[in-house]
Amino acid sequence: MRVAIGADHGGLPLKDDIIEVLEADGHEVLDLGAYEYDPDDDYPDLAAPVARAVSSKEADRGIILCGSGVGAAIAANKIPGARASVCHDTYTAAQGVQHDNMNIICLGSRVIGPETARAATRAFMGAVMDPHPRFARRLEKVNSLELESR
Ligand code: RB5
Repeated sequence: MRVAIGADHGGLPLKDDIIEVLEADGHEVLDLGAYEYDPDDDYPDLAAPVARAVSSKEADRGIILCGSGVGAAIAANKIPGARASVCHDTYTAAQGVQHDNMNIICLGSRVIGPETARAATRAFMGAVMDPHPRFARRLEKVNSLELESR
């Protein structure tokens, strides 16, 4: 898969670990920064390019890293078509895709270490949406909410 990744200064410590695991698993990585530590960078500036890449289908999935994962998810979900969530365990990372068609995972490098982040990334990348109609029905309702807010 083609995967876009971005990190603010809070998430930067994990970025190379995640890129390494993605490349080891054969994914094509689109690194959208930050490329160096800047304590004054702002998470929306790093989250939005990832969400736009996923929304435009330039990337199949996205990964955004910040200190907690929360700001990244809030910012990403403002881009239509982005379905982002903080996932700090493998169950949530996989089920978020299977049931909710999550297309962006947000990780907090101040909350989890590299091994858990790698495992959550692998669970996210390896999961596919469950074709059961109830999940499609719920996704349609989520899409309606997005249209309502435009
Ligand atoms: C940056 O200091 C931090 O606030 C940010 O990375 C993130 O945790 C926000 O949710």
